[in-house]
Amino acid sequence: MQSVKADFDRIALLEDEGSNSNDFYHSFLLGELPPRCDSALEIGCGTGAFSRLLAERSKRVVALDLSPNMVGVARERSKQFRNIDFQVADAMTAELPSDEFDCIVSIATLHHMPTEPMLFKIKRALKANGTLAIFDLFEGEGFRDLAASALALPTAVLIRLVRCGRLRPPRQVREAWAEHGRNDKYLTVSEARRIYEEILPGAKVRKHLLWRYSAIWHKPEATKDRFL
Ligand SMILES: C[S@@+](CC[C@H](N)C(=O)[O-])C[C@H]1O[C@@H](n2cnc3c(N)ncnc32)[C@H](O)[C@@H]1O
Repeated sequence: MQSVKADFDRIALLEDEGSNSNDFYHSFLLGELPPRCDSALEIGCGTGAFSRLLAERSKRVVALDLSPNMVGVARERSKQFRNIDFQVADAMTAELPSDEFDCIVSIATLHHMPTEPMLFKIKRALKANGTLAIFDLFEGEGFRDLAASALALPTAVLIRLVRCGRLRPPRQVREAWAEHGRNDKYLTVSEARRIYEEILPGAKVRKHLLWRYSAIWHKPEATKDRFL
């Protein structure tokens, strides 16, 4: 955790022109979430781009991140949003109240934590009828993922060109992500499907082009679960 924290403290302070492959899927994720929420939670909020989108449809947003620098940048960029409570916290050890949130979102963060315990914890914190949206990177498996990856690469470059006017991020940013990436480990989509089906039956797990999967789950009214 210390090295993850140090990596993101470093990345938070680098200028990346405000665009990454996760942002590209924000509208998709918003479309999966309730149009109005009393209480929303984002786990691994980074610089707060999605927290601000959540704040536009929620009375209150709790946004957690392990990295103090990420939270510092997020607070700085979100001054006009009085309904976001940014907290420096490790989601694995943070106390999450039970049955509290109408929606819980985590983008490109779950792979930093042990998946199963975190999903149980999130499940507990979600209100009945609430929605969970996990968006994360996956490890390719088989020829189809290889072929998709060959298509994803020029697509990612094109998106960056259109959004930022350059083909790739600045050198410092590339180096920081490359160093961080050495310790990253992702689930394959088959593994993700098996785990989600076991812990969150009925979760819809989908593959997306830019090396990401989404898992959307609606918590039933009465979750009778021996793990809760
Ligand atoms: C790849 S970034 C994604 C940030 C943001 N969600 C986005 O889409 O731009 C992953 C974020 O998760 C945070 N993170 C990693 N492990 C965490 C943990 N155990 N608890 C809370 N945040 C964590 C990191 O500090 C980092 O800001």
